Amino acid sequence: MATTLPTINQAHLLALLISIATTLTLTLANLPPSSPHHNPPLSLIHSLSLCLSPSARLLHPTDPAFQALLASRWSTNPSTNRPSPSLILLAATEADISHAIRHANAHNLPFLATTGGHGINTFLSHLDHNHNHNHHGGGLLISLRNLTHFTLSDSPTSKTATFGSGLLSHEVIDRLWRAGKQTTTGSCGCVSYAGPAMGGGHGYLQGRYGLVADQVVSARVVLADGRVVVASEEEEGGENGDLFWAVRGAGHNFGVVSEFTVRVYDVEEGRRDWGWEEFVFVGARLEEVYELAGEMMEGQPVEVVFWSVWRMVEEVDPVKPAIVVTVFFNGPLEEARRYTQQIRDLGPATYRFGVTEYPKLNTVLGVDLNGPGCQPQGTALLRAADVDRYDIDALRNWFDIFSQMLATEKAFAGSACLLEGYGVQGVQAVPSDSTAFPHRDKRLLLAPNVLYDVVGNSTLDREAKRWGEAMVTAAFGGAQRRTYVNYALGNESLQAMYGYEPWRLPKLQALKRKYDPENRFRFFAPIVRGGGSGNAVGDDEEEER
Ligand SMILES: Cc1cc2nc3c(=O)[nH]c(=O)nc-3n(C[C@H](O)[C@H](O)[C@H](O)COP(=O)(O)OP(=O)(O)OC[C@H]3O[C@@H](n4cnc5c(N)ncnc54)[C@H](O)[C@@H]3O)c2cc1C
Ligand SMILES: *[C@@H]1O[C@H](CO)[C@@H](O)[C@H](O)[C@H]1NC(C)=O
Ligand SMILES: *[C@@H]1O[C@H](CO)[C@@H](O)[C@H](O)[C@H]1NC(C)=O
Ligand SMILES: *[C@@H]1O[C@H](CO)[C@@H](O)[C@H](O)[C@H]1NC(C)=O
Repeated sequence: MATTLPTINQAHLLALLISIATTLTLTLANLPPSSPHHNPPLSLIHSLSLCLSPSARLLHPTDPAFQALLASRWSTNPSTNRPSPSLILLAATEADISHAIRHANAHNLPFLATTGGHGINTFLSHLDHNHNHNHHGGGLLISLRNLTHFTLSDSPTSKTATFGSGLLSHEVIDRLWRAGKQTTTGSCGCVSYAGPAMGGGHGYLQGRYGLVADQVVSARVVLADGRVVVASEEEEGGENGDLFWAVRGAGHNFGVVSEFTVRVYDVEEGRRDWGWEEFVFVGARLEEVYELAGEMMEGQPVEVVFWSVWRMVEEVDPVKPAIVVTVFFNGPLEEARRYTQQIRDLGPATYRFGVTEYPKLNTVLGVDLNGPGCQPQGTALLRAADVDRYDIDALRNWFDIFSQMLATEKAFAGSACLLEGYGVQGVQAVPSDSTAFPHRDKRLLLAPNVLYDVVGNSTLDREAKRWGEAMVTAAFGGAQRRTYVNYALGNESLQAMYGYEPWRLPKLQALKRKYDPENRFRFFAPIVRGGGSGNAVGDDEEEER
């Protein structure tokens, strides 16, 4: 990680200072008087510019690329869950990240990494002036999207891939596929590889191989003070095993991963294709559908992913949401159809099916890069309940609240609720205490999701939170609250996200004190609430009582 300060002559320096001063003057001139963008200190911009690699770029709020990056996030609403930085760094190297963190710290400027832009935790919006009571305001957003190097190691002793953390899930899938390989990544093409991995990571292949995080062999981590370390399994000759434990489940709180080395697997002959089928039912069939789904979940084969989505399907019901069941089967369509015969026997309102190679699977749910599920949604408020089973009464209750919400507020018509039934064999084969991911025993991820194409209407924001809370409460039924951290909105309890076992939170908190004593990584499901450099605790993010 050798970085030499570029040598510059005085004329060069003068030109640089003039250009920075001009940019800042323009910035100030163009901003409305009440602009939330406070300028980062000139000395930071200056000294950081001198350290960055030639391909790195610093973006100011007046730069179209600055606004474009924020607008391309999945949820673009700064009053719910979008960060409002005052400066963006497009890092090109690990050293850029390290320099950026050191400089931000020296100037008491909060910072946050971003890769795929799909995070929805409300704490992300605390990277802004209102929550950072230092006089500089705002914060530094460090985009990792340009860290895209990739190498495959395919020897009898090592089947791994090493790649920059800037890659999106679909990029990792595509790169591996071309080499006849695959591994668990997020299912949605547009999310980063890193984001899901930091919180555990669910994907189509987890039944076979385990979670995304379970594939990680080692990670290069830029720590809160800018130091770079390797985190890997000590029992296998690695280093910083305690950090390695933490980044696999609670990673957002511990560092910025610049590079992953992950296990990859040969794609077996006969398992290149996935048969998939989609069954749409009217809401009145909910009880029948989920009683059957519950039976099918017992002994669900490793090849199967059982999803359902509740959303408006006008052709099926113009007034109420429909139940869209999608079953993915890693194998021939005939095998898939044998497995799903009972669902067809229920007599769905509509039925379609297909066969696709693994990299195109995400088009079925519309979560490929160009699919509707991957586009910016205006405001997105995802909630989640990790549970053991389809609790029919709880589902009915949740569904009715969802229908009521759609009937009451037209703006929320594009909302969708997810019921994700991934394979769990690979996940449960990994000992629960071996990583910070605490939900290995849970088989279903239920996710009410309020979506609306409006930003800046506080009435709607309040209503959306209220409906989301009512739905997630219903979804839990009587179950203990457990929430996948990457789907957590912000006011879940620490136990709900990081585990109820009496040793888990103390372990995480001790590691947090060791690796990030200043609580710099506090903008995503923070383990330590408040603290940091003058950070205030939000109003609506209290812990569960
Ligand atoms: C449409 C959609 C589909 C999804 N699909 C899946 C899925 O299939 N499986 C699944 O498990 N989850 C899924 N999720 C949830 C997903 O895991 C989270 O939204 C995740 O936070 C997205 O990461 P990102 O990099 O895209 O977002 P960002 O907003 O860029 O980042 C989110 C958080 O991760 C941190 N982060 C990002 N990169 C790094 C890094 N290299 N090192 C350290 N921290 C980092 C950021 O600092 C931030 O706190 C999905 C979400 C959406 C909206
Ligand atoms: C870095 O990212 C920017 C913006 O996403 C892009 O325009 C540029 O081509 C990237 N540069 C490299 C070297 O990948
Ligand atoms: C906000 O949304 C509500 C509900 O749709 C609507 O009645 C109200 O007029 C909107 N307010 C503004 C300022 O647009
Ligand atoms: C989250 O916030 C809502 C609204 O403020 C509140 O009703 C609910 O009890 C909170 N949930 C938790 C788990 O604290």
